[in-house]
Amino acid sequence: MDAIDERMGISALSYPVPEHANRIAWTLGGITAVSFVVLLVTGIVLAQFYAPVPEVANQSIRDIENTVWAGSFIRGIHFWASQAMYVTAVLHMVRVFVTGSYKKPREGNWLVGVAMLGLVTFAVFTGTVLKWDQEGFEALGHNVEIGNLLGGVGLWFSPAFSDQIPILLRLYGAHVVIIPGLILVLLILHFLLVKRHGVSPHPSLPAGASGEQASAAEPTEPLTRHIRRLVTFGLALAGILGILAVLLPAPQGPSPVAGIEVTKLPWMFWWPFTLENWFGLSAIVWGEVVFFVILVIMPFVDRNSNRLWRRRPVAMISGLAVALAVIVLTVLMAITPTEMHL
Ligand code: HEM
Repeated sequence: MDAIDERMGISALSYPVPEHANRIAWTLGGITAVSFVVLLVTGIVLAQFYAPVPEVANQSIRDIENTVWAGSFIRGIHFWASQAMYVTAVLHMVRVFVTGSYKKPREGNWLVGVAMLGLVTFAVFTGTVLKWDQEGFEALGHNVEIGNLLGGVGLWFSPAFSDQIPILLRLYGAHVVIIPGLILVLLILHFLLVKRHGVSPHPSLPAGASGEQASAAEPTEPLTRHIRRLVTFGLALAGILGILAVLLPAPQGPSPVAGIEVTKLPWMFWWPFTLENWFGLSAIVWGEVVFFVILVIMPFVDRNSNRLWRRRPVAMISGLAVALAVIVLTVLMAITPTEMHL
């Protein structure tokens, strides 16, 4: 190890991790990263057999399910890992919010996180279109209509952008290269910033405690021990994903029929879809824009230097209001029959 380290400088990446960072709530970011790795590996396998061409895309997924060795299992793991990545990224963000860990000097890393959340959402969306069943086709319909609505800004989302390459192929390129590539670059930056600032001290420590002051108040351990714990959580997650992939295989419907609207997008998009039911297509755009603007401005609006949730009533009530709005709109979509929009 010393010989490798001397040549590769691996130990330069290490930093002391406070004990509270081993609690499950503080390892959610790491668990999100594990899901991302699972998605990369299973995605590379799926890409060997998926055909991103409208005429055969749906059939190629059926072939993965029925003729590729362990194809259904690998696809199931990919599907469930995408759900896990989305859920753990949101829960990780909630932890960072509740413990006030986005406050100075971590505002920049919060923004990197917001960008990654946007990319994860876009990855779920493009992945849904790739199935090229009724759900994927209707998702694409919304994609195209929103592109038209945005005019010049939305041109990339419209089939008119490229005469030669079908939009399915361009969304496939986004799904397998552009989005994961950007997430990877941002993830490296995210990790380097966590190393630079250290994991935020426990919020019960005096405001502003960091570095030596915080380490004096709480014991630390080397990053390698923290990573060992993460590997344990990661293996547990892999086991859960495996069980889900067997018991509940990834959904796939028959080839799409144009001109009807009978599906709902994946549940992550239900809250903007309720807005669409009420106010029309543009509400999806405004809903998402407002949501992400709230996330972006959060560290700059919340100037209270306290990080303990009990001493931040305004931030807590505002956060709860946003979370409640998203949950209520999601539940409303779950109980509302599908409506025609396009
Ligand atoms: C999408 C994939 C993401 C991955 C893989 C990830 C990973 C991580 C990891 C491993 C840490 C170290 C501490 C921990 O595990 O809690 C961390 C810290 C942090 N993350 Fe993320 N993160 C992601 C998304 C986000 C999002 C969506 C936000 C906020 C909008 C965010 C904001 C932060 C901040 C501010 C820190 C420093 C927190 C502290 O020091 O306590 N991250 N992230």
